[in-house]
Amino acid sequence: MASEYLKYKSEELTVKYNPKICIHAAECVKGLPKVFNPKKKPWVEVGNASADEIIEVIKKCPTGALKYESINKNKNEELNYVPDIKVTKNGPLFIKGNISLINSDGEEVLNEGRIALCRCGASENKPFCDNSHYKVKFNG
Ligand code: SF4
Ligand code: FES
Repeated sequence: MASEYLKYKSEELTVKYNPKICIHAAECVKGLPKVFNPKKKPWVEVGNASADEIIEVIKKCPTGALKYESINKNKNEELNYVPDIKVTKNGPLFIKGNISLINSDGEEVLNEGRIALCRCGASENKPFCDNSHYKVKFNG
């Protein structure tokens, strides 16, 4: 589920990470390797950059696997993204905006700012992409 976030804290900032929806797009590692380093434990070192630098990189995570809470920022900033839908080659749909996911009973099951939705049909964490599109060699 999208709500299972690990937390990494400094005085100013809490970085939240959900490994179940991370598809290793690596925007975080490329953007700020001194903070996001999968070869280290913990892999997120919140003290190695300013809160603003970290927030800028977190906003680029396409799946919402990385989020933040800052003592200085509006916590609902997540939902203020300009709506955007991107179809990735042979991969998921990246969606940004105030996203509301409704189940077949009409109940809202998720309200997020960024998600990656499976397009290949093979994800074991539907409706989210879990990178299974590589395994099944999805062509689309
Ligand atoms: S940018 Fe997001 S999806 Fe990509 S590796 Fe980092 S946490 Fe995972
Ligand atoms: S598109 Fe990534 S698992 Fe289906």
